[in-house]
Amino acid sequence: MRGFKDIREDFPILKKFTYLDSASTSLTPIPVIEAMNDYYYNYNSNTGRGNYKIAIKSSNKVEDARGKIAKFINGDHDEIIFTKNTTEAINIVVNGLNFEKGENIIVSNVEHHSNLIPWLNLKNLEVKTAEIDDGYTINTEDVLNLIDENTKLIAITHISNVFGSVQDVEEIGKIARENNLLFLVDAAQSAGYTPIDVGKINLDFMAFPGHKGLLGPVGTGFLYLKKEIAEDLMIKNLGGGTVTGVKGDEFTLDDVPYRFEGGTHNISGIVGLSKAIDYINNMKVENIEKYCDKLTKELYERIHSIENVEVYGNPNNIHHTVSFNVNGLNPYDVSKILDETSNICLRSGFHCSIPSVESVGTENGTVRASIHCYNNFKDIEKLYDGLKLISKLG
Ligand SMILES: Cc1ncc(COP(=O)(O)O)c(C=O)c1O
Repeated sequence: MRGFKDIREDFPILKKFTYLDSASTSLTPIPVIEAMNDYYYNYNSNTGRGNYKIAIKSSNKVEDARGKIAKFINGDHDEIIFTKNTTEAINIVVNGLNFEKGENIIVSNVEHHSNLIPWLNLKNLEVKTAEIDDGYTINTEDVLNLIDENTKLIAITHISNVFGSVQDVEEIGKIARENNLLFLVDAAQSAGYTPIDVGKINLDFMAFPGHKGLLGPVGTGFLYLKKEIAEDLMIKNLGGGTVTGVKGDEFTLDDVPYRFEGGTHNISGIVGLSKAIDYINNMKVENIEKYCDKLTKELYERIHSIENVEVYGNPNNIHHTVSFNVNGLNPYDVSKILDETSNICLRSGFHCSIPSVESVGTENGTVRASIHCYNNFKDIEKLYDGLKLISKLG
């Protein structure tokens, strides 16, 4: 097993830039890029259709990837549906469920828009909001109090993309079970950063990106869809690859998961994602978690130590993502100055999560630094030095 020091050479962008925006999308290691190139150079063909050798190879690669992903999260092969990102995975659930007028669901005020807007868009549905406490953690008492006889589902994020706080999904899963509710978890900021066991969380749906913590390519993601629920979901993306027969105006749906995967897959992306899971497994996700937690602690403390800079988040519950502001400066200016002067890549603004950012009362959003296993203490030092200079401008 290689150490975290040695893997930096797998990410050539790090030679030129201090990349601190992995919560948006992570860097892609060379072995993943090579696996995708291998597909295009050597067996470029569609899946589930042709019976020639390279088409069979493509199909096998996609099904191998499905099995590998299932094992990674302790699900079954047929419980994995490939998507292009987390948002698409959530939308399959939102648009597949049938809500009666008067029914409600519970989300939190730290949801990414991808786990909020699709629910708000359902005209029949009331969306209730559980608040985070001053430790940036969703208050489970609040969740309990919001449940009534018309509540159908709880949908929450595992780790906040603004504050890096991990939510007690096991406890909320228990509440969902005890109250006979469906449970969806948005794993956009947790997959690849912390071990995930879908059975332990006791959920029905979990939405994943391939391109963030898992170090896979952009354009990849997947939905964990519990077997017992799958048959009840309506399907909105029908077409090639989703049926076994058509007669007149009748058709027979293929099995799960294929009925949910209309059209041609992002095959090279799935091949890359499969290699990325190998890459993560090789380092062990538990080691990544420990390493990233150490780096995050340093990141938080360094930023916190600068005068005139305000940091958000709970130092005892903060994982890979730290939001902050320089008093008197617009966050967009802060990130742009650091980009222009020091090649530091940060995100600024509302991070597609306006309710989260508004919960800490900032007018123009925050600056956000987020790390992964390829970052090191020098990256944090560089941000600290740059921020210290800028903080005097405010
Ligand atoms: C918590 C959370 N949910 C959902 C998303 C959307 O992810 P994707 O871009 O893969 O659709 C993000 C993206 O940053 C996120 O942080």
